[in-house]
Amino acid sequence: MSVTNTIGIGMVGCGRIADLQCLGYLDHPSSRIVATCDIDGEVAERRRVEWKAERAYTNLDDLLADPRVDAVEILTPHDLHADQAVAALAAGKHVSLQKPPTHSLAEIDRIADAARACGRVVRVFENFAHYPPHRKARELIEAGAIGTPLSVRIKTALGRPSDGWSVSMQSQAWRVDRGRCGGGALTFDHGYHCFHMGQFFFPCEIERVHAFIHWTRLGDGAWLDGPSLISWKYAGDTPVRYGSWETMTSVGMRIRSNYYASDDRIEVHGSEGILWVNRCTGKLLDEPALVLYRDGETRAFHDLETDWAASFRLGGEDFVSCLLDGREPSQTLAQARRTLAFALAAGLSADQAREVTVAEIENAAACLSSTCENQP
Ligand SMILES: NC(=O)c1ccc[n+]([C@@H]2O[C@H](COP(=O)([O-])OP(=O)(O)OC[C@H]3O[C@@H](n4cnc5c(N)ncnc54)[C@H](O)[C@@H]3O)[C@@H](O)[C@H]2O)c1
Repeated sequence: MSVTNTIGIGMVGCGRIADLQCLGYLDHPSSRIVATCDIDGEVAERRRVEWKAERAYTNLDDLLADPRVDAVEILTPHDLHADQAVAALAAGKHVSLQKPPTHSLAEIDRIADAARACGRVVRVFENFAHYPPHRKARELIEAGAIGTPLSVRIKTALGRPSDGWSVSMQSQAWRVDRGRCGGGALTFDHGYHCFHMGQFFFPCEIERVHAFIHWTRLGDGAWLDGPSLISWKYAGDTPVRYGSWETMTSVGMRIRSNYYASDDRIEVHGSEGILWVNRCTGKLLDEPALVLYRDGETRAFHDLETDWAASFRLGGEDFVSCLLDGREPSQTLAQARRTLAFALAAGLSADQAREVTVAEIENAAACLSSTCENQP
């Protein structure tokens, strides 16, 4: 941190989502984007100018050697996340890592080891957790507005791509390459948000998962993992709780959106009431963003910030504040590990057409790491 108590941010990967991820750092009075890094030099330089940063790099090591950089924001394809996060920590930088953090639990554990060794902060950024209607819904649940929460139902609609913002072919190509993405573009990349929402509204562990994921051929050897229907059971039987998430690929349907041409709706059902969050990424429905049903009456919450971009701004500001205040980030590696295990259980369930326990994913990771430790 500089003598003026300003956090210097290095943006690593300056592609599509950097448009929104920069907002919290540009808005916070105590942070500044000081450097950019992208393997595409033109992109790095364009962003340097746009964000009034001092330096543009095409090589991560060069950015990490820059003493003005206190923390990095990693916004690269998922197969690069683990190595880049570990390198940043080894260089003494704090890390904000975009979801999904890694492909595997072993990789996230490697980041955790590196963070412990250097005493730096890592937070895994998942913006749905900062979206004001989601936060308000959780606040209402915690205050008992729907009684005991019993189930979460999430629905994602993917619409006609030309109606959203433009996404370069390069930005799409690594997503539909399962080896680079780590799973499907819908059920792993986007899915991380929805699995996190499955855990966000009540503090229960996920016990078992069952997933149908249909792989649709897009042409040129690329595949999209939709439609899909994923269901899960929370741990414990008093009460019994289930959750579900469905994705629809309605590629002919117009979805109003300033961002991706998709939208997510969530329903949380409780013993005494129901909450609906009617929008997120897009503006699919003309309904109030948040509605509560209880005791025969519905109440709409209109006075909420509903622009999806707000979740990025608030999430960026939260990271800066946590570094300044020396507190734990709101999204820790341990929490991200639980969400990742959930996502991996869904992927395995669909691949093997059977129900998968999250413990199975955890045990496989534990076996793998003890096998590694036993190697000469
Ligand atoms: N929170 C969200 O809703 C959300 C939305 C979109 C993307 N994301 C996440 O953000 C990350 C980036 O996604 P995107 O859509 O911006 O991707 P993108 O492909 O548009 O941008 C990635 C950028 O990284 C650069 N890059 C590639 N290799 C690099 C390297 N070795 N060093 C430095 N730069 C490198 C590319 O040139 C590109 O500019 C991913 O983790 C993705 O899942 C999150």
